[in-house]
Amino acid sequence: MDGGVGASSPPPKSPDSAPEPKRRERKQKSGLGWLEWTRGWMSVVGEMLFQRIMASHLQNPLPLPPVNNLTCIVTGSTSGIGLQIARQLAEAGAHVVMAVRNPKAAHDLIQKWQNEWSGMGLPLNIEVMELDLLSLDSVVRFADAWNSRLGPLHVLINNAGIFSIGEPQKFSKDGYEQHMQVNHLAPALLSVLLLPSLLRGSPSRIVNVNSVMHYVGFVDPEDMNLVSGRRKYTSLLGYCSSKLAQVMFSSVLHKRLPAESGISVLCVSPGIVQTNVARDLPRIVQAGYRVIPYFIFNPQEGSRSSLFAATDPQVPEYCELLKADEWPVCAFLSQDCRPTNPSEEAHNVETSYWVWEKTLELIGLPSDSVERLIEGKEITCQYVGH
Ligand SMILES: NC(=O)c1ccc[n+]([C@@H]2O[C@H](COP(=O)([O-])OP(=O)(O)OC[C@H]3O[C@@H](n4cnc5c(N)ncnc54)[C@H](OP(=O)(O)O)[C@@H]3O)[C@@H](O)[C@H]2O)c1
Repeated sequence: MDGGVGASSPPPKSPDSAPEPKRRERKQKSGLGWLEWTRGWMSVVGEMLFQRIMASHLQNPLPLPPVNNLTCIVTGSTSGIGLQIARQLAEAGAHVVMAVRNPKAAHDLIQKWQNEWSGMGLPLNIEVMELDLLSLDSVVRFADAWNSRLGPLHVLINNAGIFSIGEPQKFSKDGYEQHMQVNHLAPALLSVLLLPSLLRGSPSRIVNVNSVMHYVGFVDPEDMNLVSGRRKYTSLLGYCSSKLAQVMFSSVLHKRLPAESGISVLCVSPGIVQTNVARDLPRIVQAGYRVIPYFIFNPQEGSRSSLFAATDPQVPEYCELLKADEWPVCAFLSQDCRPTNPSEEAHNVETSYWVWEKTLELIGLPSDSVERLIEGKEITCQYVGH
């Protein structure tokens, strides 16, 4: 396969690369420095202007290696990037579970795909399970239902996400800011709770569909809900913070999972993609979004980095290399399927561990959840039955 993980050497060691920091009095900075902020926006604009050139070595659709033996859960697969991921994995022979909040829409899609696929091979092996990330209880129920099958899970793709552009601040019924819950807290809970099934499927992978926007994100672990008033809430702030929180949490999860577990954790950027994510934009901006197709990927192009992360045979080795090297962040693949560095703030080891602890607290899991699950012990989530 062109480009990708094998094409690049591991990232250089970072000066802040360090094992889990000892607890000390934590000093939190109040935001990105102007240089970090400027570099962050340059990454965003660079991706928008040059993603097509950077990814010109990739075929579309991305050819996939054999996936017949894989079971893959894809969240948010009724629309945009997730829809493409689910369909392509299923057409390549994987067993796909569409984890969605609107099961009827998913069943309608499966019906359509089966009709279009008929005569091209075996019927698609695809099923639907209900999952609403705005409810932590729904996440727990989903994970319990899946784990109770006692089958293997090879790939979890945390794709579902929201960017409620221009909307006022909203909270889930669990009391969390909605971007933080849907884009970070609920996928974090799902990832941890599904560890027993991922262990059964090992070597296995957790792929988080992240965003270039995390480069302009900043997380205050004491104010993940964005209610302190220290920073004025905007949907952009909510979205970028949630995506950075996901990178930080994933980096610590990647470190906490022993190499013997065989579970790789990655974040990917899909690029700037024409999907329903823009549904809340003013109509005039949506129209503009559509007339610049050269710069914007279609959902099939936007699915390539996730599909690569989920299936490329070199990915586990690359993740292991980063773990052994004490590199402070998990693997991050850009829209062109090449490894890249996440933001400077994502390399902040102390804040990452702080985000890890806060996240576990907010999703109602004990701090030693990962270790207990790896040892085959049970854990209890505070959100059961809410
Ligand atoms: N499009 C871009 O330019 C871009 C860039 C960077 C990153 N991303 C990321 O890519 C991922 C996919 O987004 P997309 O662009 O494909 O957007 P999309 O077309 O809006 O798809 C988002 C999917 O997430 C699902 N979803 C939303 N809230 C949910 C909830 N509470 N519970 C369960 N599922 C929920 C949606 O379900 P419904 O169909 O029921 O609404 C939909 O299937 C997101 O994580 C997004 O942040 C997108």
